[in-house]
Amino acid sequence: MISAAQIQKRIEELGAQIDHDYNGGPVYLIAILKGACFFLADLARAMKTPARIEFVGISSYGKGKTSSGEVKLTKDLDVSVEGQDIVIVEDIVDSGVTLSYLLKIFAQRKPKSLRIATLLDKPERRQRPVEVHYVGFKIPDEFVVGYGLDYAEDYRNLKDVCILRE
Ligand code: IMP
Ligand code: MG
Repeated sequence: MISAAQIQKRIEELGAQIDHDYNGGPVYLIAILKGACFFLADLARAMKTPARIEFVGISSYGKGKTSSGEVKLTKDLDVSVEGQDIVIVEDIVDSGVTLSYLLKIFAQRKPKSLRIATLLDKPERRQRPVEVHYVGFKIPDEFVVGYGLDYAEDYRNLKDVCILRE
């Protein structure tokens, strides 16, 4: 669906947009494990603004291709983000359940600002409204793998984003 070259080109643009929006930094880039690691690594290097890297783990009860409504934090931040600029880094926004949950949690920690960057967005699938500031690509309702995205833990290390066909 999206080639490695297209991904890199778009991430350069997102990095420039972040540089434009933040004055000096540091910006806390908080990636959601595991899928967003690849995007985080490339996005952090596409920006000139100083970045600090953190990770959170989420489990959503649901197997296969959809996340259920229930989300749990399985790994929390190691640091306080009070008074800091935060960008949550996600691989794909689908129903919006995961991010609306995380936004609620992080807002309680009193950051200076809180935004979301996602490589992919499937707007047709949204069940919970979430405001996403940085979107790499809007895609149709297809199940995709690669560049961090998995199906049952497989295909994460594909360089391109590919449609999974059964
Ligand atoms: P949401 O809570 O429904 O927005 O789900 C977001 C999470 O579902 C993502 O972080 C992915 O782990 C997973 N997901 C949603 N769509 C896809 C897809 O097309 N391929 C792989 N994982 C997906
Ligand atoms: Mg995920």
